[in-house]
Amino acid sequence: MSKKNFYITTAIDYPNGAPHMGHAYEKIITDAYARWARSSGLETYFLTGTDENGQKLAKSAEELNVPTRKFVDDNAEIFKKLCSELKISNDDFIRTTESRHSKVVGEFWRKLEKNGDVYFDRYSGLYCLACETFYTETQASDRLCPEHKTKLELLEEEGYFFKMSKYEKWIKEFLTGNPAFVAPSEARNEIVSRLNSEPLKDLSISRPNKGWGIPVPGNDKFVVYTWFDALINYYSAVVGTSHENYWPADLHVIGKDIGWFHTVIWPIMLHALGIPTPAQVYIHGMVLSEDGRKMSKSLGNGVDPFDVLKTYPLDSFRYFMLRSIPSGGNGRFSMKDLNQRHVSELGNDFGNLLMRIVKLARKRLGDQVAPVNLVANTNVNFDFEKVHLEMDRLMSAREHNRALDVLWSDLNKVNAYVNASTPWAIKDGDPQFQAVVHQTLQALYCASILLAPFMPHTSAEALRSLGFKDEDFSKINRKNVSSLTFQLSDPPVLFPRVA
Ligand code: ME8
Repeated sequence: MSKKNFYITTAIDYPNGAPHMGHAYEKIITDAYARWARSSGLETYFLTGTDENGQKLAKSAEELNVPTRKFVDDNAEIFKKLCSELKISNDDFIRTTESRHSKVVGEFWRKLEKNGDVYFDRYSGLYCLACETFYTETQASDRLCPEHKTKLELLEEEGYFFKMSKYEKWIKEFLTGNPAFVAPSEARNEIVSRLNSEPLKDLSISRPNKGWGIPVPGNDKFVVYTWFDALINYYSAVVGTSHENYWPADLHVIGKDIGWFHTVIWPIMLHALGIPTPAQVYIHGMVLSEDGRKMSKSLGNGVDPFDVLKTYPLDSFRYFMLRSIPSGGNGRFSMKDLNQRHVSELGNDFGNLLMRIVKLARKRLGDQVAPVNLVANTNVNFDFEKVHLEMDRLMSAREHNRALDVLWSDLNKVNAYVNASTPWAIKDGDPQFQAVVHQTLQALYCASILLAPFMPHTSAEALRSLGFKDEDFSKINRKNVSSLTFQLSDPPVLFPRVA
């Protein structure tokens, strides 16, 4: 039986410093998809959190001479604060140091062991601590980390292994048989070509226990490899709880650098235990700095999202991240570009349109605008029922930036309609005035509902100024919209100029 609800997750972040722009980006886009699903009537569960068991966290804490526990607790709070400041609508925030998580990790391990999928051996490989990842000679022929360009460390350890190689045939068939499992298709092709280019190796899934991490069940000389434990968070957050019916997850939203873990290792781990696999992994691109390099903690070129929020309204920031970075591709962040979109697309195309039509209507008609039995005499070339369907198609294709393109293209048509109809020049007493105003208010009402997943505050304020609140997509239909009576009040200045 197909599942009727929607379970969506972000990656869980390493709290080994304050959150950066990439973290903000991922949370904002995931939030837009979660809100879109809710507004479409799907019962939705949205999970985010922090990945706290890695060796690099213990190392960073040690460098600062702070107990690891305190270091991680303090930083996790900042990630929670980021979610709250970005108005992320997550239902849960999981921390992998919580016992609800480590308990499930232990059970997971035991079951794999019982199935004969875990064994003990020696390993020698090239390791990047910042990625918490081993790289093969093919991936790093120069012995530099492909992500960080730093020297890889040769680790020779003994420990536990997960028999991934046993599932090579299965994962290849799984990925070929489920083309929708990885979006966009370019990302999927990369994964498949890597699978075809080298044999799938068993995965080292433990590290020597240096006092931080989840102890391996039955052998506390070792802790569970942090990636192996981290992936399980999506499952441990719901299994055995009242939200268990949300499993399997519908959408994991993650960045390009961690695609392999989510599209190869994670489905194999689940399949090995007979647990249903998630429906889709959507792999977004990277936020680049102005100079075109990836923003990252290790490169030290991050822009602090909290600083952006001190200068611009939250919704200008959300809009910029959602519209200007192409889905699946990389995109640069600059305050200059943000300002430009804030002024022209938000301030002019939306904010001014709303402000001038509401003010004009209140001045000439009073606070209530009822429908009139007259078709406005200028060509109305926007159709928000169609816009909704097109946006829905693009959101399902994980192309949120194009969904916003469609919405803005119609907002421009509404602006053009108002300019062509010149309602301010229509004589007092002519019913055409009310017809044009009502038509424009209908468009603004629909646009505001469609904006909600992307810009919740703007949407709520715009709807309030039209006399509504908490509308969902079911309200976007011609019959409903053409018969509405608008109860107007002045909207606030939503996108004030920034000096
Ligand atoms: O990878 N632009 O954590 P993380 C866009 N703990 N996204 C970016 C980015 C950038 N410049 N930099 C990072 C981890 N990200 C693991 C995940 S999940 C079981 C464990 C994205 O804090 C990155 O791709 O390094 C990932 O999806 C998320 O931010 C967390 O990265």
